[in-house]
Amino acid sequence: MTKENKYNELYRQIGSVLEGETDPVANMANMAALIHETFGFWWTGFYIVRDNQLVLGPFQGPVACTRIPFGKGVCGTSWKHQETIVVPDVEEFPGHIACSSLSRSEIVVPIFDGDNVKAVLDIDSKELSTFDETDKEWLEKIVRLL
Ligand code: SME
Repeated sequence: MTKENKYNELYRQIGSVLEGETDPVANMANMAALIHETFGFWWTGFYIVRDNQLVLGPFQGPVACTRIPFGKGVCGTSWKHQETIVVPDVEEFPGHIACSSLSRSEIVVPIFDGDNVKAVLDIDSKELSTFDETDKEWLEKIVRLL
């Protein structure tokens, strides 16, 4: 199956699992699980904006940092610039926050409430250059289901 096909199927699956449920934590939890299981990523989860910080939300994978300030790390930078960030090699990203030393590449997708970022989706891979434009487009579409 191509990546495109996997995302197509994943999008349909997430839509049906989230249908009828309005609780954001429950939906983030199932979304993280479905993305994580489909691709076998190293870490898949959410950071939620609370009191001008990102606070760890539902995730799949190893223990992670609980709080990330505005503008810090890949997550805080995505929040600040209100855009998706694809990092092919985390060692090349100034200020990257290493929750796990095994993480090699990363994508962070902001989630909007109107014009404001309310959370971010963060995915880490143990391989370099895992994420590209296809992941960006599909993950941006997927988080709009929240
Ligand atoms: N690497 C992220 C921190 C979160 S962990 O990857 C789960 C960052 O630089 O913002």
